[in-house]
Amino acid sequence: MEVIIQRDYQQMSRVAAQLVVDVLNTKPNAVLGMATGSTPLGLYQELVRLHQAGQVDFSRVTTFNLDEYVGLPANHPQSYHHFMDEHFFRQVNIPRHNINIPSGTTSNYPAFCQWYEGRIAECGGIDVQILGIGSDGHIAFNEPTSSLSSRTRLKTLSKQTIDDNARFFEHREDVPVYAITMGVGTILDARKLLLVASGKTKAKAVAQAVEGPVTSMVTASALQLHRDAIVIVDEEAAAGLTMREYYEFIYAAKPAAPRT
Ligand code: PGA
Repeated sequence: MEVIIQRDYQQMSRVAAQLVVDVLNTKPNAVLGMATGSTPLGLYQELVRLHQAGQVDFSRVTTFNLDEYVGLPANHPQSYHHFMDEHFFRQVNIPRHNINIPSGTTSNYPAFCQWYEGRIAECGGIDVQILGIGSDGHIAFNEPTSSLSSRTRLKTLSKQTIDDNARFFEHREDVPVYAITMGVGTILDARKLLLVASGKTKAKAVAQAVEGPVTSMVTASALQLHRDAIVIVDEEAAAGLTMREYYEFIYAAKPAAPRT
């Protein structure tokens, strides 16, 4: 795992966006795995800026989102369909038919989940998966005790996640209790993982994910099993890391080092 510590949110977002652009520069028809939440917003803004400056083209890109709330139609203001449209898709040139987001309103969830997995495979797998991390250590909606080999499925949200996400809804009771989410196994199949984390509320989860044991209690710790996982954090989110000097030493030496 590579850990990159940046001074603030903006710099974290820029470095993450550049890593996505690097993938697109070598593979213009790359398959991107998208994440929602507050954290990747800066990364999306930076990608939009680079696109508008003519530095990155998305016309051959395909995307797969990690998750969606069960019960929210695509046009619901808190749906992840709406979030992605608003903050990214509307502002770049990804063909509509190349955009894939789990359905929160399908009448047959098991069949839909199987179809979603098949569609990822048909598109050649995900080249780079963007991830946030929950304060409970989740990636996507893989809550504590999710199987580390899970695939796309329905998941019940943890109390912590419902509390965290209540800020986006009028009442806490409005937060959906279920989500459809890629599994940890689905995520680990991506060729590159890019996790972004910002702020002191994430410091404990980041430390557990990066330096703790691999455990289904912190599903982000499964990144330790991946051969190309990059964790980009700001100062506050890095606060619990004990090996900080080592990560900074590696990052500083990187331009000269062979990229293996
Ligand atoms: P956040 O969500 O970026 O809004 O903190 C992260 C997550 O739950 O994955």
